Amino acid sequence: MRILVTGGAGFIGSEFVRGLLARRTDRVTVLDALTYSGNLANLAPVANLPGFHFVRADIRDADAVGRAMAGQDAVVHFAAESHVDRSIASATPFVTTNVLGTQVLLDAALAHGVGRFVHVSTDEVYGSIDAGAWSEDQPLDPSSPYSASKAGSDLLALAYHRTHGLDVVVTRCSNNYGPYQYSEKLIPLFVTRLLRGEQVPLYGDGGNVREWLHVADHCQGVELALDKGRSGQIYHIGGGTELTNRELVGRLLVACGRDWDAVRQVPDRKGHDRRYALAVDRIRDELGYAPRIPFDEGLAGTVAWYRDNPGWWRPPAGAAGEHPAGA
Ligand SMILES: NC(=O)c1ccc[n+]([C@@H]2O[C@H](COP(=O)([O-])OP(=O)(O)OC[C@H]3O[C@@H](n4cnc5c(N)ncnc54)[C@H](O)[C@@H]3O)[C@@H](O)[C@H]2O)c1
Repeated sequence: MRILVTGGAGFIGSEFVRGLLARRTDRVTVLDALTYSGNLANLAPVANLPGFHFVRADIRDADAVGRAMAGQDAVVHFAAESHVDRSIASATPFVTTNVLGTQVLLDAALAHGVGRFVHVSTDEVYGSIDAGAWSEDQPLDPSSPYSASKAGSDLLALAYHRTHGLDVVVTRCSNNYGPYQYSEKLIPLFVTRLLRGEQVPLYGDGGNVREWLHVADHCQGVELALDKGRSGQIYHIGGGTELTNRELVGRLLVACGRDWDAVRQVPDRKGHDRRYALAVDRIRDELGYAPRIPFDEGLAGTVAWYRDNPGWWRPPAGAAGEHPAGA
C-alpha cells in the first residue's frame, strides 16, 4: 500500500511511520511543513529505507498537496497545530492549518481517488466531563481554539464521507506521552526542566484529570483504524490511566529525583477543561484494540529516553525560544 502521512515529522506521526516501516512493506510518503514541532531527526531511523519518501510542504498548499497525493492508496492525517496554550495566544494558525489544511487534503484525496482517509483527532473536541466516559456519539462541545479547530476538521472529514462517499475514518485519542515529544507539552516540559535542575509550572490546583496513552499504543489504534475501521466511523483510542496533574507531577518528581520544592503553582489556563475520559468499547470490540504499555513502564521509558537523548531536546548554548508557551 502507498500511504501519505501528514505531520509525520511530529511526535505521534513519526512514531507511526517508524513503527509501520519496521513491520510492514508499505511505501510511506511523509508530508510535513517542519514547523517548530516537526523535526527530521524523528525520522532518522527510517530515512534511508527504500519505502520512505519525505516531502516538505504545507497542507494548506493545494498544489503541493495535489502532487504528493497522486498515486497514494491511503492518507493518515496527523498534521496540525497541536498546543492549546499557543491557540489561546493566537488562533489563526490553528484555524488555517487544522480546518483549511484538512479541507485541502480532503479535496485532494477526492480528486485523486485515494481510498482510505484516516483523520487523527482528540478527546478535547467533547469539552469536559465530570464523571463517566464519552461514547463516540457525544455531541461536540470544545473549549479552546485548538479543540474547536479540531472539531471543525472532524466534521469536515465526516461530511466528505457523507457527501462524497470518501472512505473516511476518524480517530479520537486521549493525552499521548512517549519519546520524541516536543518539550512544550506537560510531560516532556517537566522532565526536561527537572533533569536540568529547574522549576516547573503547575496550572491552578493541579486537580485537572487526564487519561494517559502511550504513543505506541495510540499508533496501534490508528493502524487498526487504517486497516480495518468501518468507513464513516469514529473510533476512540484511550490509554485507561487517569491521573490528576498533581498525581502525574508526583511521579515525574520521583522519576527525576526531585521534590515538591521544584514545583511552582501558576494561574490556571483560560478555559481549562477539568477532565477528559473516553469509552473505548467500539475499537476494542470491532478492531481488537487494547493498550499494551502499562503507564509506569511507559513513563519510566520516556524519562529514560529524555535523560539519554539530551542532544534531541537541549538547544545549543545561547539559543532562545525552547519553551515558548509553558505547560
Ligand atoms: N499529543 C497529543 O497528546 C494528542 C492528543 C490527541 C490528538 N492529537 C492529535 O494528533 C496529531 C499529531 O499530534 P502531535 O502531538 O504529534 O503534534 P506535533 O505538534 O508534535 O506534530 C505536528 C506535526 O505537523 C506538522 N505541521 C503543522 N502544521 C503543518 C502544516 N500547515 N502543514 C504541514 N505540516 C504541518 C508539524 O511540522 C509537525 O511535524 C494532531 O492532529 C493532534 O491534534 C495529539
